[in-house]
Amino acid sequence: MKKRLVILTGAGMSQESGIRTFRDMGGLWEEYDVTEVATPEAWHRNPELVMKFYNDRRKQLYECEPNPGHVGLAELEADFDVQIITQNIDDLHERAGSSKVLHLHGELKKVRSTRYDDLIYDLDGWELKFGDTCEEGFQLRPHIVWFGEMVPAMDEAMPLVKKADIFVVVGTSLNVYPAAGLVHYTQDGVPIFVVDPERPPVHRNGIEFLEEKAGLGVSTLKEKLKKLK
Ligand code: APR
Repeated sequence: MKKRLVILTGAGMSQESGIRTFRDMGGLWEEYDVTEVATPEAWHRNPELVMKFYNDRRKQLYECEPNPGHVGLAELEADFDVQIITQNIDDLHERAGSSKVLHLHGELKKVRSTRYDDLIYDLDGWELKFGDTCEEGFQLRPHIVWFGEMVPAMDEAMPLVKKADIFVVVGTSLNVYPAAGLVHYTQDGVPIFVVDPERPPVHRNGIEFLEEKAGLGVSTLKEKLKKLK
């Protein structure tokens, strides 16, 4: 049986695909005030601005391609039972061929009803407009977990991490909870690899840091994982 490899990814994973991270120099939260575009209060105050912020991100996503890091993680499925848990709202893991991808913070290409949380749709094209409604007639919003909102996918993520034989973290500053706490759900003794040019502040026995960008770091990781098959 293949070993269970669980991989937590963040914005750094998609940086080499041309998607800006949040907290690095030149990151999105330097240009935008998070409270103005990524909170439920922002949506109530100024939904047009919030919609424009995500429309811009979505439009850009259509111009981006998976990078060698995404492809390398998808290729690991040949040797491991791979579960990706991503904080990213892009679909680059899926487009690279990963078959099990859990999105903690929502998905940019989806929208949902502002009234009924379970009415979720694939948006046709990049633009969500004021007046676009669900089948019950309520305005659609981005299918994104905003700051201050629950992270429903954590219920699924925690048991997956507990069952991991190997755990990997790629390209996240581990600033945002609850996602940042997932590493602590690993069983004692599980090998942990962290791929990031800047070491994120995580302390757990058995961590090996690969201080490289995702593209190169994933190929280094694959070499190391060969010995753990
Ligand atoms: N390859 C790998 N890692 C990289 C690369 C790269 N090419 N470029 C940058 N990084 C690393 C940075 O060193 C940093 O540790 O990626 C991380 C990016 O951190 P953040 O910008 O904080 O992104 P992330 O951790 O994914 O943010 C978490 O915050 O704003 C919210 O909802 C948003 O999901 C996001 C969450």
